[in-house]
Amino acid sequence: MIASRKDDHVRLALEQQNGHGGRSQFDDVSFVHHALHGIDRDEVSLATRFAGLRWQVPLYINAMTGGSAMTGAINRDLAIAARETGVPIATGSLSAYFKDESVAGTFSVMRRENPDGFIMANVNATATVQDARRAVDLLRADALQIHLNVIQETVMPEGDRSFSSWGPRIEKIAAGVGVPVIVKEVGFGLSRETVQRLRELGVHAADVAGRGGTNFARIENGRREHADYGYLDGWGQSTPACLLDARDAGLPLLASGGVRDPLDVARCLALGATAVGSSGGFLRTLIDGGVPALIARISAWQDQLAALMTALGARTPAALTECDLLIGGELRWFCTDRGIDTAALATRSRLPAAVAS
Ligand code: FNR
Repeated sequence: MIASRKDDHVRLALEQQNGHGGRSQFDDVSFVHHALHGIDRDEVSLATRFAGLRWQVPLYINAMTGGSAMTGAINRDLAIAARETGVPIATGSLSAYFKDESVAGTFSVMRRENPDGFIMANVNATATVQDARRAVDLLRADALQIHLNVIQETVMPEGDRSFSSWGPRIEKIAAGVGVPVIVKEVGFGLSRETVQRLRELGVHAADVAGRGGTNFARIENGRREHADYGYLDGWGQSTPACLLDARDAGLPLLASGGVRDPLDVARCLALGATAVGSSGGFLRTLIDGGVPALIARISAWQDQLAALMTALGARTPAALTECDLLIGGELRWFCTDRGIDTAALATRSRLPAAVAS
């Protein structure tokens, strides 16, 4: 049952990527162009730090799969691409492994192919501390992701209907698992209030995983006999909306959900993310062009991100948070109603003294 669900997820997520590339709320975020702010490429470092961790690049392959023969092969290929490009990577949910140990290899292949890389194990919020430790041990994981997916479960025909235990479970895992814990959504976003609650629960970082990319309401609706939850297609907050909303919520933020290109990566970093993840888009590249295509794409994103930072005068990913940003469209309405000062974002850079005088 779980193995065929994992295969369905891959198939339906790939179908969504066929129509990808349309308008996104990322298009409501633009950098103010300052023609004399550029620096030299060799001044730029892509390294990023959060929650006591240091990553060479502010990019990662986010959680997807494992639990069936086909998804084990995908995990192998994703891990090779991560190894060759030096980006961190997450496994898909290990719930299949908790139910059936015979699928362990479809996850642990990631560590076998990427012995020295940064790997995040992924569990759901019903996991116990023991489950979480088993997940970390299987992967020799450097961090643990816990996913929140209440809307996915709601639309999933066989999904959970009890969510009240999630907070206490997360608190226990964060205190007892022994590696940094990152809580993520699966594409509906984390609000400021949720991130504040996660901080109280002792979580180390939050991945907003907002609306705009892979849509799990649509995926699970596609698995229903009568596809009768179509009206939930637009549920949730976009990734840029979440970053704006939760910037001051007291936890390091990671960004994922609908990230299309290096400009979206730079936008996320400028909105306060410490690193940026992609799932569905990278999966599409892997399936279409194999491991070489995915390596080429991730390498191009790294090069182009550094090029954009050079033009913007940002020596580090964190320095992008000093770049002036304009917020337009629907996102501006969101900011107005959530009390976010867009004028302050548009004027936050300090002009170099020589220019100002
Ligand atoms: C996912 N995602 C996901 N997330 C998670 O925490 N555990 C999981 O097991 C899965 N499974 C999964 C399967 C597939 C095929 C995809 C494409 C995605 C969600 C993923 O990590 C991410 O939060 C969203 O997909 C949004 O990012 P993209 O796809 O828009 O870049």
